[in-house]
Amino acid sequence: MTRLAGKRALITGAARGIGEAFATAYIREGAEVMIGDIDMDRARETAARIGARAVPMDVTDQDSIDAAVAETVAELGGIDILINNAALFTAAPITEITRADYNRVFDINVAGCLFTLQAVAKQMIAQGSGGRIINMASQAGRRGEPLVAVYCASKAAVISLTQSAGLNLIEHGINVNAIAPGVVDGEHWDGVDAFFAKYEGKAPGQKKKEVGEAVPFGRMGTAEDLTGMAVFLASDEARYIVAQTYNVDGGNWMS
Ligand SMILES: NC(=O)c1ccc[n+]([C@@H]2O[C@H](COP(=O)([O-])OP(=O)(O)OC[C@H]3O[C@@H](n4cnc5c(N)ncnc54)[C@H](O)[C@@H]3O)[C@@H](O)[C@H]2O)c1
Repeated sequence: MTRLAGKRALITGAARGIGEAFATAYIREGAEVMIGDIDMDRARETAARIGARAVPMDVTDQDSIDAAVAETVAELGGIDILINNAALFTAAPITEITRADYNRVFDINVAGCLFTLQAVAKQMIAQGSGGRIINMASQAGRRGEPLVAVYCASKAAVISLTQSAGLNLIEHGINVNAIAPGVVDGEHWDGVDAFFAKYEGKAPGQKKKEVGEAVPFGRMGTAEDLTGMAVFLASDEARYIVAQTYNVDGGNWMS
């Protein structure tokens, strides 16, 4: 299994969850991986456990993005693959959304995605051998949800950015695509569950149980369920795929 042999990947927000599963799968396929995360204690622990490297990175801070890209290039010799994975979830009824929460979520999920993509694209163009960029969207970006306006809008923006960046960067041999997961079990969803417990008066764990049972496949996704698509989009087999967003969701979006 060496579909990514010799490739150098930067994965944001990979200290845990889906990003960690991507990093693990990429290493299994022969890539060298740099985890860029704001939580450096967790990033270092994960990197040591799975055989990756870790760099401090706050995708809301341009200096931090630039420094993380420079350090990745210094340590790995270049960047062939970027996964824009870092993101934050929030939920509130429309009448309770705060400007501060909106700014925080858009800063990470949208500006963080765009300006990390920009910094890495410049590096890939300078390298002159193309590259792969994968943005993490969501089923939330495909349609609104009553309590999730800000997060849904941020992920719709990621799908749109993927289309524009994909069309713009393919002339440099850089394929930009996105993955839209459905509901994926893990610490992220523990936080989502807590929001629904608050706003829908559900017992802790109840929302998670309900959404899992509603997935046509019969259960929530796992981070590992997404790794096949992440490896494929980074591999040579995906060379003709440009500006697309793929649902990997057990059929959830179609149901
Ligand atoms: N879990 C799901 O059900 C689900 C569903 C659809 C889409 N997604 C998307 O998949 C991606 C990964 O989700 P996850 O469940 O692993 O999330 P997670 O919350 O478990 O992990 C997010 C990671 O991002 C890091 N991070 C947060 N802010 C950052 C910043 N400013 N700069 C750098 N790193 C930062 C965190 O430290 C953490 O390691 C996200 O883009 C998420 O929106 C997740």
